Amino acid sequence: MAFSLAILAGLGLAIVYWRGGQTQIEGALLAVALIGIGGGLIYWSKQLMPPAEVTEPRHTGPSADEDREAVEGSLSEGEERLARRTLLGRLLIGAAGALGLAALFPIRSLGPSPGDTLYRTPWRAGMRLRDETGRLVKVDELEQDSFTTVFPETAPGSADGQAVLIRVDPSALRLPADRADGAPEGYVCYSKVCTHLGCPIGLYLAATHELRCPCHQSTFDVLSGAEPVYGPAARPLPQLLLEVDDDDYLVAQGDFTGPIGPGYWTIDKGPEGSGVDPL
Ligand code: FES
Repeated sequence: MAFSLAILAGLGLAIVYWRGGQTQIEGALLAVALIGIGGGLIYWSKQLMPPAEVTEPRHTGPSADEDREAVEGSLSEGEERLARRTLLGRLLIGAAGALGLAALFPIRSLGPSPGDTLYRTPWRAGMRLRDETGRLVKVDELEQDSFTTVFPETAPGSADGQAVLIRVDPSALRLPADRADGAPEGYVCYSKVCTHLGCPIGLYLAATHELRCPCHQSTFDVLSGAEPVYGPAARPLPQLLLEVDDDDYLVAQGDFTGPIGPGYWTIDKGPEGSGVDPL
């Protein structure tokens, strides 16, 4: 009875959760299921497993007829008990299974898989840069050694697309060879999301050409591809390679050169082609 109640409560819990959930009902059903299992185990131990230890001295000859009858009676009773034990065992498994099934449903609360969204931002090839005032950035926009925050043309204000645009002396750049054509007129552009814990990089030190994160002082060398030179960040800021379109606007060549922000998910390895080194 108690195990049956626990099975019903476990199934009810699964159904209530599946249909959207209701905290009070779920709590009540969980309590009934646990009490049912507990009550069933108590009954089982008290009624079907006699606690007393029984011993009988060995007889030297054949038993008396009355004793034989008594033994036969006990064996029949034992058979019945064994059948009840099997039934109870099955009910217990059923109750635990129903409760286990209900416990699986909260996995749904983790939400949809992020897929590759951790590795992609709104930036696409040919997309223009929009500054904080909403203006599209032209190639003559910035003075040398000044910087501004930019967003993808189609996603102004986007958290993962935000980037810092800095203009430096082109002859001072020491970018990796495969990025040499990504800094027209000395414009370099990096993700604004710190690779330590994700704070927005807010400070540009023009004298040393360094970007500094205000949270824990991670410092990145702008001229050498935003390699970290100080602080806890272990990974460079991903770069947005640029070019100039026919109307003199700065445009992206594609997405960032790697995943933005903290790289917990890159500890083993980044996605194929992401160019991300393990931390
Ligand atoms: S979040 Fe930037 S240094 Fe920690």
